[in-house]
Amino acid sequence: MSMHIGAEKGEIAETVLLPGDPLRAKWIAETFLKDPVCYNQIRGMLGYTGSFKGKQISVQGSGMGIPSSLIYCFELINNYDVKKLIRVGTAGSYQKDLSLGDLVIAMAASTTSGINNSIFQTAHYAPTASFDLFHKAVSYAEQNGMEFRAGNVLSADEFYDDPDDLYHLWSRYGVLCVEMETAGIYSMAARHNVEALSILTISDSLITKVRSTPEERETGFREMVEIALNVGTA
Ligand code: HPA
Repeated sequence: MSMHIGAEKGEIAETVLLPGDPLRAKWIAETFLKDPVCYNQIRGMLGYTGSFKGKQISVQGSGMGIPSSLIYCFELINNYDVKKLIRVGTAGSYQKDLSLGDLVIAMAASTTSGINNSIFQTAHYAPTASFDLFHKAVSYAEQNGMEFRAGNVLSADEFYDDPDDLYHLWSRYGVLCVEMETAGIYSMAARHNVEALSILTISDSLITKVRSTPEERETGFREMVEIALNVGTA
């Protein structure tokens, strides 16, 4: 057992899907995996291992924001020998032509978080996806006729934007969307020499202020999870 995960060593697969919401982890396990077993209930942050196309794979809720997700990533890597972390999450659009339900595969993640500042001080590390996982996700999406965008995302420390709508700056630099975890996960994966990828579905727009319905979110989630499971077991 680690501090926040109640599994025995060997109960978690080498590849772990990371939705922020623990109930999404349950839904993914029960909808897509064969013989899912729940290995964690500490803090209600559910984690499951099952099989997909004959290979073991796990899915672990990671909570909201970089600090929460990094607790789980650190323990998965260091206590359970996890080698591939694939975030599946939602994001807010920063671009006019990126609409509700659209898929984003994060090549890189900018951030408002200070996690890397104490390490790199006045320099700035650029957190990027594992090329191998990224390439597999892009190939899978292309081969299966799924539309997607790939590029830079913002991992923000605050969900609620400030009144000045700071998103304009990120938008001008081509950042596609905002979420709250990817830059942390990519940085931690690099530090521990494991692979990471974030696949995101647009659930709201900072420009039009529209939000998707729970049904729309579920449809978007299905495509994203299908890509993640196929990449994770390839
Ligand atoms: N901001 C931050 N994180 C998010 C958002 C958002 O608008 N939508 C989904 N995750």
